[in-house]
Amino acid sequence: MVQRPVRVVVWGVLCVALIGAPIPAPADEVPYIQTPGNVVDAMLAMAEVGPNDYVVDLGSGDGRIVIAAAKRYHARGLGIDYDRTLIAESRANAVREGVSDRVRFQQQDIFLADFHDATVVTMYLLPEVNLEIRPLILFGLQPGTRVVSHDWDMGDWEPDRRLVVPAPEKIVGLKKESTIYLWVVPARVAGYWRGTLAGPSGEESVVIEFAQRFQHASASVWLRRWSLPGVARLQGDRLALSLDRSPWMPDAPPLRFTLHVAEGRLSGEAVDGGKRYTLRAARLAE
Ligand SMILES: C[S@@+](CC[C@H](N)C(=O)[O-])C[C@H]1O[C@@H](n2cnc3c(N)ncnc32)[C@H](O)[C@@H]1O
Repeated sequence: MVQRPVRVVVWGVLCVALIGAPIPAPADEVPYIQTPGNVVDAMLAMAEVGPNDYVVDLGSGDGRIVIAAAKRYHARGLGIDYDRTLIAESRANAVREGVSDRVRFQQQDIFLADFHDATVVTMYLLPEVNLEIRPLILFGLQPGTRVVSHDWDMGDWEPDRRLVVPAPEKIVGLKKESTIYLWVVPARVAGYWRGTLAGPSGEESVVIEFAQRFQHASASVWLRRWSLPGVARLQGDRLALSLDRSPWMPDAPPLRFTLHVAEGRLSGEAVDGGKRYTLRAARLAE
């Protein structure tokens, strides 16, 4: 019986030879293909990995991503792979590289694994696997968690950054380059909020409704008898809200709030021509 890693590499090489790109291996397997060293570096740099990070590689192969994160950035790491042989190899690699006290490897299906405390998630899977894991990332991880994927995006969740890097050692694809994508898990703001808007002429009560799609949101802020429309962008737990107050104050420019969202509360400020506005609200319902 040929070992699974050997089978999948043979499959990957065959695909490249025949069609110039990796395609799903038989029996729904993601082929085992290594991320070249310089692409690993670019992924970790894109995620701005540091010593306080806990880096989880979903489908960790020989462990190279979490080992590099521990070695270069002193991060802690967890590699998850369902392949027993690769897990054993990763553990041996971690010992050889002197980081076995900072990284762990777990033989498990990523869809059954608990990685809710990751601060950085990396992956080199397949487009349909990325889409399948997407809800676990969006709803299972803390806002602000950085997610970096090698070569495959996450459908209509647009990345916060995208970068093409040369990859001369790459064994798949016709072009010797890799695309890497970064997403920052957005806080969830969709629903109704109630609070106050305080400005130079006093404090008003407000009700806010957010409709959210990934890191984008639109807002309606009800203030007295006006409904003020806004557009917002989330990066983790930070919300940049541009509020059109022209229905309330014709000709006034939008108020640009920088807000922080945490534990059912949002708060922050906008400064306009030396005037300070403070918005505070608590979640009413999703
Ligand atoms: C393309 S390789 C990437 C390896 C490594 N992350 C890298 O970038 O070098 C994909 C890896 O994911 C593993 N894998 C695929 N699907 C998985 C799943 N559902 N659960 C656990 N491991 C999986 C495969 O065994 C393989 O090692």
